[in-house]
Amino acid sequence: MSDQSTLVTHEHFAYIAARTTPEDPFLADLKRAADAENIPPINIAPEQAAFMQIMLKLSRAKHVLEVGTLAGYSAIAMARALPPDGRVRTIELSPKHAQFAKSWIARSDVAGKVEVINGPGSDILPTLADLSYDAAFLDADKAGYPFYLEHCLRIVRPGGLIMADNAFAFGQLFDANPTDREAPAVKAFNEIMAAESRLQSVIVPIGDGLWVAVRK
Ligand SMILES: C[S@@+](CC[C@H](N)C(=O)[O-])C[C@H]1O[C@@H](n2cnc3c(N)ncnc32)[C@H](O)[C@@H]1O
Repeated sequence: MSDQSTLVTHEHFAYIAARTTPEDPFLADLKRAADAENIPPINIAPEQAAFMQIMLKLSRAKHVLEVGTLAGYSAIAMARALPPDGRVRTIELSPKHAQFAKSWIARSDVAGKVEVINGPGSDILPTLADLSYDAAFLDADKAGYPFYLEHCLRIVRPGGLIMADNAFAFGQLFDANPTDREAPAVKAFNEIMAAESRLQSVIVPIGDGLWVAVRK
């Protein structure tokens, strides 16, 4: 045993992606259709979806909250990991994205398990009841993450999961002058997560870096 880690390179990322349970044709079609509607291709990577499904299954999650629906890719993936009475509630600011996601969820194998709410996360999270979720996934405006996290710590039960995407700041984590306008907010959020004593957490180096944390 050693404390040393292997340097993860792009080659490792490609290796992991090529060996993960692949995305199914429905989700591949959804991505193509979203592209045709000029919805940006910023959904989670298939290997993140597979990992999140495993985490949700292992934690026996039933009620999942998502902030940032986009086209519904991650919401559908997460709903598939839940028991028959499980539910994903997903919040999306853009009416266009919410409408697209609703139409694809309706024709998916998890229609009825996913509810899309159109509005800003900052308005909707405060309306959710304490300890009413088993897991939450943050994947929206990065400046909003600290506020969303505070509410997740209130609404997710002890032992539940809190996950957040883009810990690697769109590949610009170590850039002195990042060009992405959200990179500074990601860096600030990473420090908040690292110091949060109510969570046991780790950044999993898949996709653009995925925070995975258990509510103590
Ligand atoms: C990275 S995408 C989400 C990807 C999605 N989770 C997936 O993997 O399939 C981010 C989404 O968050 C939405 N968004 C941005 N600001 C938001 C806010 N304040 N509240 C809710 N959604 C927001 C954007 O419109 C966009 O659709």
